[in-house]
Amino acid sequence: MKEWWIQVGLLGIPLLAVYLHIPPPQLSPELHSWKASGRFFTYKDRNIFYQDSWGAVGSSEIVVLLHGFPTSSYDWCKIWEGLTQRFHRVIALDFLGFGFSDKPRPHNYSIFEQASIVEGLLGHLGLQNQRINLLSHDYGDTVAQELLYRYKHNRTGRVLINSLCLSNGGIFPETHHPTLLQKLLKDGGLISPILTRLMNFFFFARGLAVVFGPYTRPSEAEMWDMWAGIRTNDGNLVIDSLLEYINQRKKHRDRWVGALASMAVPLHFIYGPLDPVNPHPEFMNLYRKMLPQSTVSILDDHISHYPQLEDPMGFLNAYLNFINSF
Ligand SMILES: *[C@@H]1O[C@H](CO)[C@@H](O)[C@H](O)[C@H]1NC(C)=O
Ligand SMILES: *[C@@H]1O[C@H](CO)[C@@H](O)[C@H](O)[C@H]1NC(C)=O
Repeated sequence: MKEWWIQVGLLGIPLLAVYLHIPPPQLSPELHSWKASGRFFTYKDRNIFYQDSWGAVGSSEIVVLLHGFPTSSYDWCKIWEGLTQRFHRVIALDFLGFGFSDKPRPHNYSIFEQASIVEGLLGHLGLQNQRINLLSHDYGDTVAQELLYRYKHNRTGRVLINSLCLSNGGIFPETHHPTLLQKLLKDGGLISPILTRLMNFFFFARGLAVVFGPYTRPSEAEMWDMWAGIRTNDGNLVIDSLLEYINQRKKHRDRWVGALASMAVPLHFIYGPLDPVNPHPEFMNLYRKMLPQSTVSILDDHISHYPQLEDPMGFLNAYLNFINSF
Protein backbone atom coordinates (compact mmCIF):
# COMPACT_ATOMS: atom_id res chain seq x y z
CA MET A 1 0.00 0.00 0.00
CA LYS A 2 2.97 2.30 0.33
CA GLU A 3 3.25 5.08 -2.17
CA TRP A 4 -0.41 4.64 -3.10
CA TRP A 5 -0.38 8.16 -4.44
CA ILE A 6 1.99 7.12 -7.20
CA GLN A 7 -0.57 4.60 -8.34
CA VAL A 8 -3.34 7.17 -8.14
CA GLY A 9 -1.13 9.51 -10.11
CA LEU A 10 -0.37 6.93 -12.75
CA LEU A 11 -4.06 6.22 -13.13
CA GLY A 12 -4.95 9.91 -13.06
CA ILE A 13 -2.67 11.01 -15.88
CA PRO A 14 -4.35 8.95 -18.61
CA LEU A 15 -7.77 9.92 -17.25
CA LEU A 16 -6.84 13.60 -17.38
CA ALA A 17 -5.46 13.10 -20.88
CA VAL A 18 -8.74 11.53 -21.96
CA TYR A 19 -10.64 14.38 -20.35
CA LEU A 20 -8.54 17.01 -22.10
CA HIS A 21 -8.36 15.10 -25.38
CA ILE A 22 -4.58 14.94 -25.52
CA PRO A 23 -3.48 14.38 -28.25
CA PRO A 24 -5.80 16.78 -30.12
CA PRO A 25 -8.63 15.22 -32.14
CA GLN A 26 -7.93 13.86 -35.61
CA LEU A 27 -9.28 15.87 -38.50
CA SER A 28 -12.38 14.34 -40.07
CA PRO A 29 -12.07 13.49 -43.79
CA GLU A 30 -14.12 16.62 -44.61
CA LEU A 31 -11.97 18.94 -42.53
CA HIS A 32 -8.85 17.25 -43.78
CA SER A 33 -9.84 17.88 -47.38
CA TRP A 34 -10.67 21.51 -46.51
CA LYS A 35 -7.15 21.87 -45.19
CA ALA A 36 -5.63 20.04 -48.17
CA SER A 37 -7.41 22.32 -50.65
CA GLY A 38 -6.11 25.46 -48.91
CA ARG A 39 -2.71 27.13 -48.68
CA PHE A 40 -0.62 29.18 -46.31
CA PHE A 41 0.92 32.59 -46.73
CA THR A 42 3.27 34.36 -44.36
CA TYR A 43 2.36 37.54 -42.60
CA LYS A 44 5.28 38.82 -40.47
CA ASP A 45 6.60 35.29 -39.85
CA ARG A 46 3.13 33.95 -39.07
CA ASN A 47 1.56 31.26 -41.20
CA ILE A 48 -1.95 32.15 -42.23
CA PHE A 49 -4.24 29.56 -43.79
CA TYR A 50 -6.49 30.55 -46.67
CA GLN A 51 -8.70 29.18 -49.41
CA ASP A 52 -8.79 30.69 -52.88
CA SER A 53 -11.20 29.06 -55.35
CA TRP A 54 -11.57 30.10 -58.95
CA GLY A 55 -15.19 30.00 -59.95
CA ALA A 56 -17.61 31.43 -62.48
CA VAL A 57 -15.87 32.19 -65.76
CA GLY A 58 -18.32 34.86 -66.88
CA SER A 59 -17.69 36.97 -63.80
CA SER A 60 -14.76 39.10 -62.71
CA GLU A 61 -16.06 39.67 -59.22
CA ILE A 62 -14.25 38.65 -56.06
CA VAL A 63 -15.69 37.86 -52.66
CA VAL A 64 -13.61 37.69 -49.49
CA LEU A 65 -15.13 35.91 -46.47
CA LEU A 66 -14.34 36.91 -42.88
CA HIS A 67 -15.29 34.31 -40.27
CA GLY A 68 -16.51 34.57 -36.68
CA PHE A 69 -15.32 33.67 -33.19
CA PRO A 70 -14.24 31.01 -32.15
CA THR A 71 -14.44 29.11 -35.45
CA SER A 72 -12.70 29.42 -38.83
CA SER A 73 -13.01 29.71 -42.60
CA TYR A 74 -14.64 26.27 -42.49
CA ASP A 75 -17.82 28.12 -41.38
CA TRP A 76 -18.29 28.96 -45.07
CA CYS A 77 -18.10 25.38 -46.34
CA LYS A 78 -21.86 25.01 -46.87
CA ILE A 79 -22.13 28.03 -49.16
CA TRP A 80 -18.70 27.72 -50.81
CA GLU A 81 -19.94 25.83 -53.84
CA GLY A 82 -22.82 28.27 -54.33
CA LEU A 83 -20.47 31.25 -54.15
CA THR A 84 -18.08 29.80 -56.71
CA GLN A 85 -20.97 29.61 -59.18
CA ARG A 86 -21.48 33.34 -58.92
CA PHE A 87 -18.01 34.77 -58.28
CA HIS A 88 -14.80 34.62 -60.25
CA ARG A 89 -12.84 34.17 -57.02
CA VAL A 90 -13.94 33.10 -53.58
CA ILE A 91 -11.34 33.74 -50.90
CA ALA A 92 -11.42 33.03 -47.18
CA LEU A 93 -8.80 32.96 -44.46
CA ASP A 94 -8.38 31.71 -40.92
CA PHE A 95 -7.56 34.74 -38.80
CA LEU A 96 -4.43 34.60 -36.64
CA GLY A 97 -5.28 32.45 -33.61
CA PHE A 98 -8.05 30.53 -35.41
CA GLY A 99 -8.41 27.31 -37.43
CA PHE A 100 -5.22 26.19 -39.17
CA SER A 101 -3.39 29.51 -38.83
CA ASP A 102 -0.62 30.11 -36.30
CA LYS A 103 -1.70 30.77 -32.72
CA PRO A 104 1.21 32.59 -31.07
CA ARG A 105 1.20 32.78 -27.29
CA PRO A 106 1.59 35.11 -25.53
CA HIS A 107 0.33 37.54 -28.11
CA ASN A 108 -1.86 40.63 -28.02
CA TYR A 109 -4.48 39.64 -30.58
CA SER A 110 -6.22 42.61 -32.15
CA ILE A 111 -8.78 43.46 -34.79
CA PHE A 112 -6.27 45.92 -36.28
CA GLU A 113 -3.75 43.16 -36.85
CA GLN A 114 -6.41 40.88 -38.40
CA ALA A 115 -7.36 43.70 -40.80
CA SER A 116 -3.69 44.06 -41.76
CA ILE A 117 -3.55 40.31 -42.37
CA VAL A 118 -6.49 40.57 -44.80
CA GLU A 119 -4.65 43.38 -46.61
CA GLY A 120 -1.51 41.24 -46.60
CA LEU A 121 -3.38 38.30 -48.11
CA LEU A 122 -4.86 40.39 -50.92
CA GLY A 123 -1.41 41.85 -51.61
CA HIS A 124 0.03 38.33 -51.65
CA LEU A 125 -2.61 37.32 -54.20
CA GLY A 126 -1.94 40.42 -56.31
CA LEU A 127 -5.46 41.74 -55.73
CA GLN A 128 -4.63 45.04 -54.03
CA ASN A 129 -5.98 47.04 -56.97
CA GLN A 130 -9.14 44.98 -57.44
CA ARG A 131 -12.51 45.86 -56.01
CA ILE A 132 -13.55 43.36 -53.37
CA ASN A 133 -16.93 42.27 -52.03
CA LEU A 134 -16.67 41.53 -48.32
CA LEU A 135 -18.95 39.01 -46.61
CA SER A 136 -18.47 38.77 -42.88
CA HIS A 137 -19.81 37.16 -39.73
CA ASP A 138 -19.43 37.96 -36.01
CA TYR A 139 -15.72 38.67 -35.24
CA GLY A 140 -15.27 39.11 -39.00
CA ASP A 141 -17.82 41.95 -38.95
CA THR A 142 -15.49 43.95 -36.73
CA VAL A 143 -12.53 43.25 -39.01
CA ALA A 144 -14.68 44.38 -41.95
CA GLN A 145 -15.54 47.60 -40.11
CA GLU A 146 -11.85 48.32 -39.60
CA LEU A 147 -11.17 47.61 -43.30
CA LEU A 148 -13.98 49.98 -44.16
CA TYR A 149 -12.51 52.66 -41.92
CA ARG A 150 -9.14 52.32 -43.67
CA TYR A 151 -10.80 52.36 -47.06
CA LYS A 152 -12.67 55.53 -46.22
CA HIS A 153 -9.49 57.20 -45.01
CA ASN A 154 -7.47 56.21 -48.07
CA ARG A 155 -4.92 54.32 -45.98
CA THR A 156 -2.01 52.87 -47.95
CA GLY A 157 -2.53 49.17 -48.65
CA ARG A 158 -6.25 49.44 -48.04
CA VAL A 159 -8.69 46.96 -49.48
CA LEU A 160 -10.80 48.54 -52.24
CA ILE A 161 -14.26 47.67 -51.02
CA ASN A 162 -16.99 47.20 -53.60
CA SER A 163 -19.72 46.12 -51.17
CA LEU A 164 -20.09 44.86 -47.62
CA CYS A 165 -22.48 42.26 -46.28
CA LEU A 166 -22.42 41.70 -42.52
CA SER A 167 -24.17 38.91 -40.62
CA ASN A 168 -24.91 38.17 -36.95
CA GLY A 169 -22.25 40.05 -35.06
CA GLY A 170 -21.93 42.48 -32.18
CA ILE A 171 -21.41 45.60 -34.18
CA PHE A 172 -23.08 47.63 -31.42
CA PRO A 173 -21.45 46.93 -28.06
CA GLU A 174 -24.63 48.17 -26.36
CA THR A 175 -26.84 45.39 -27.78
CA HIS A 176 -24.20 42.67 -27.55
CA HIS A 177 -24.71 39.97 -24.94
CA PRO A 178 -21.71 37.62 -24.81
CA THR A 179 -22.34 34.06 -23.62
CA LEU A 180 -21.43 33.09 -20.07
CA LEU A 181 -18.41 31.16 -21.28
CA GLN A 182 -17.18 34.18 -23.24
CA LYS A 183 -17.57 36.40 -20.17
CA LEU A 184 -15.73 33.97 -17.91
CA LEU A 185 -12.88 33.56 -20.36
CA LYS A 186 -12.58 37.25 -21.05
CA ASP A 187 -12.87 38.66 -17.54
CA GLY A 188 -11.92 35.62 -15.50
CA GLY A 189 -8.51 37.04 -14.50
CA LEU A 190 -6.57 34.13 -13.05
CA ILE A 191 -9.42 31.75 -13.80
CA SER A 192 -9.25 32.09 -17.57
CA PRO A 193 -5.88 30.35 -18.08
CA ILE A 194 -7.21 27.46 -16.00
CA LEU A 195 -10.51 27.41 -17.87
CA THR A 196 -8.80 27.41 -21.26
CA ARG A 197 -6.78 24.41 -20.15
CA LEU A 198 -9.71 22.53 -18.69
CA MET A 199 -12.12 23.24 -21.50
CA ASN A 200 -12.85 20.02 -23.32
CA PHE A 201 -15.16 18.98 -26.12
CA PHE A 202 -18.08 18.49 -23.79
CA PHE A 203 -17.96 22.05 -22.40
CA PHE A 204 -17.18 23.51 -25.77
CA ALA A 205 -20.13 21.78 -27.47
CA ARG A 206 -22.46 22.79 -24.62
CA GLY A 207 -21.26 26.37 -24.81
CA LEU A 208 -21.56 26.65 -28.57
CA ALA A 209 -24.92 24.88 -28.89
CA VAL A 210 -26.69 27.81 -27.19
CA VAL A 211 -25.92 30.12 -30.11
CA PHE A 212 -27.61 27.77 -32.61
CA GLY A 213 -31.35 27.47 -33.13
CA PRO A 214 -33.02 24.39 -31.58
CA TYR A 215 -33.64 22.73 -34.97
CA THR A 216 -30.38 23.73 -36.60
CA ARG A 217 -27.72 22.64 -34.12
CA PRO A 218 -24.58 21.16 -35.66
CA SER A 219 -24.34 17.38 -35.61
CA GLU A 220 -21.90 15.79 -33.20
CA ALA A 221 -19.48 15.31 -36.13
CA GLU A 222 -19.76 18.99 -37.11
CA MET A 223 -19.11 20.02 -33.51
CA TRP A 224 -16.01 17.85 -33.53
CA ASP A 225 -14.82 19.62 -36.68
CA MET A 226 -15.17 22.98 -34.96
CA TRP A 227 -13.41 21.69 -31.87
CA ALA A 228 -10.63 20.14 -33.96
CA GLY A 229 -10.12 23.55 -35.60
CA ILE A 230 -9.77 25.18 -32.20
CA ARG A 231 -7.47 22.48 -30.82
CA THR A 232 -5.11 22.74 -33.80
CA ASN A 233 -1.90 24.50 -32.62
CA ASP A 234 -3.30 24.61 -29.04
CA GLY A 235 -5.86 27.24 -29.98
CA ASN A 236 -7.84 26.62 -26.81
CA LEU A 237 -4.99 28.33 -24.96
CA VAL A 238 -5.37 31.62 -26.86
CA ILE A 239 -9.15 31.91 -26.63
CA ASP A 240 -9.06 34.25 -23.66
CA SER A 241 -6.59 36.47 -25.46
CA LEU A 242 -8.68 36.49 -28.67
CA LEU A 243 -11.71 37.55 -26.65
CA GLU A 244 -10.02 40.88 -26.05
CA TYR A 245 -11.91 41.91 -29.21
CA ILE A 246 -15.00 42.52 -27.10
CA ASN A 247 -13.12 45.23 -25.20
CA GLN A 248 -11.69 46.59 -28.44
CA ARG A 249 -15.20 46.93 -29.85
CA LYS A 250 -16.21 49.06 -26.88
CA LYS A 251 -13.08 51.15 -27.02
CA HIS A 252 -13.28 51.80 -30.77
CA ARG A 253 -17.04 51.90 -31.09
CA ASP A 254 -17.16 55.34 -32.67
CA ARG A 255 -14.48 54.51 -35.22
CA TRP A 256 -16.15 51.27 -36.27
CA VAL A 257 -19.82 52.22 -36.10
CA GLY A 258 -18.88 55.53 -37.71
CA ALA A 259 -17.24 53.71 -40.61
CA LEU A 260 -20.54 51.93 -41.32
CA ALA A 261 -22.68 55.01 -40.87
CA SER A 262 -20.73 57.05 -43.39
CA MET A 263 -20.41 54.16 -45.82
CA ALA A 264 -20.67 55.06 -49.48
CA VAL A 265 -20.70 51.48 -50.81
CA PRO A 266 -23.64 49.04 -50.86
CA LEU A 267 -24.28 47.65 -47.38
CA HIS A 268 -26.40 44.68 -46.35
CA PHE A 269 -27.04 42.69 -43.19
CA ILE A 270 -28.16 39.04 -43.02
CA TYR A 271 -29.73 38.30 -39.67
CA GLY A 272 -30.67 35.10 -37.88
CA PRO A 273 -33.23 36.59 -35.48
CA LEU A 274 -33.03 33.95 -32.73
CA ASP A 275 -29.48 35.07 -31.90
CA PRO A 276 -29.04 35.30 -28.11
CA VAL A 277 -25.81 37.29 -28.56
CA ASN A 278 -27.46 40.02 -30.67
CA PRO A 279 -31.13 39.63 -29.73
CA HIS A 280 -34.18 40.55 -31.74
CA PRO A 281 -35.77 43.08 -31.91
CA GLU A 282 -33.33 45.14 -29.84
CA PHE A 283 -30.45 44.63 -32.25
CA MET A 284 -32.36 45.11 -35.50
CA ASN A 285 -34.16 48.21 -34.22
CA LEU A 286 -30.88 49.86 -33.40
CA TYR A 287 -29.35 48.69 -36.67
CA ARG A 288 -32.13 50.19 -38.79
CA LYS A 289 -31.99 53.40 -36.81
CA MET A 290 -28.20 53.79 -37.01
CA LEU A 291 -27.75 52.52 -40.57
CA PRO A 292 -30.89 53.45 -42.53
CA GLN A 293 -29.01 53.20 -45.84
CA SER A 294 -28.43 49.47 -45.33
CA THR A 295 -30.70 46.77 -46.69
CA VAL A 296 -31.51 43.83 -44.43
CA SER A 297 -32.49 40.16 -44.82
CA ILE A 298 -34.09 38.56 -41.79
CA LEU A 299 -34.05 34.78 -42.00
CA ASP A 300 -36.64 32.39 -40.50
CA ASP A 301 -37.57 32.82 -36.85
CA HIS A 302 -35.70 29.70 -35.74
CA ILE A 303 -32.34 30.72 -37.26
CA SER A 304 -29.82 31.92 -34.71
CA HIS A 305 -26.22 33.15 -34.52
CA TYR A 306 -24.64 31.01 -37.28
CA PRO A 307 -27.00 31.68 -40.22
CA GLN A 308 -24.58 30.47 -42.93
CA LEU A 309 -24.43 27.05 -41.23
CA GLU A 310 -28.03 26.91 -39.97
CA ASP A 311 -29.72 27.98 -43.19
CA PRO A 312 -27.12 27.90 -45.97
CA MET A 313 -29.68 28.19 -48.78
CA GLY A 314 -31.49 31.11 -47.16
CA PHE A 315 -28.18 32.80 -46.43
CA LEU A 316 -26.82 32.30 -49.93
CA ASN A 317 -30.04 33.53 -51.57
CA ALA A 318 -30.09 36.61 -49.37
CA TYR A 319 -26.48 37.35 -50.26
CA LEU A 320 -26.87 36.80 -54.00
CA ASN A 321 -30.00 38.97 -54.06
CA PHE A 322 -27.95 41.72 -52.48
CA ILE A 323 -25.03 41.26 -54.89
CA ASN A 324 -27.38 41.28 -57.88
CA SER A 325 -29.11 44.44 -56.67
CA PHE A 326 -26.38 46.92 -57.61
C1 LIG B 1 0.89 43.04 -24.78
O1 LIG B 1 0.56 44.36 -24.42
C2 LIG B 1 0.98 44.69 -23.10
C3 LIG B 1 0.42 46.07 -22.76
O2 LIG B 1 0.59 46.97 -23.81
C4 LIG B 1 2.51 44.64 -23.04
O3 LIG B 1 2.95 44.97 -21.76
C5 LIG B 1 2.94 43.23 -23.41
O4 LIG B 1 4.37 43.17 -23.46
C6 LIG B 1 2.38 42.80 -24.75
N1 LIG B 1 2.65 41.38 -24.95
C7 LIG B 1 3.19 40.90 -26.06
C8 LIG B 1 3.41 39.43 -26.11
O5 LIG B 1 3.45 41.60 -27.03
C1 LIG C 1 -9.79 59.90 -50.31
O1 LIG C 1 -9.56 60.06 -51.68
C2 LIG C 1 -10.66 60.59 -52.40
C3 LIG C 1 -10.36 60.55 -53.88
O2 LIG C 1 -9.03 60.89 -54.14
C4 LIG C 1 -10.95 62.01 -51.89
O3 LIG C 1 -12.07 62.56 -52.56
C5 LIG C 1 -11.26 61.93 -50.39
O4 LIG C 1 -11.44 63.23 -49.87
C6 LIG C 1 -10.13 61.23 -49.64
N1 LIG C 1 -10.56 61.02 -48.26
C7 LIG C 1 -9.77 61.30 -47.22
C8 LIG C 1 -10.37 61.06 -45.88
O5 LIG C 1 -8.63 61.70 -47.33
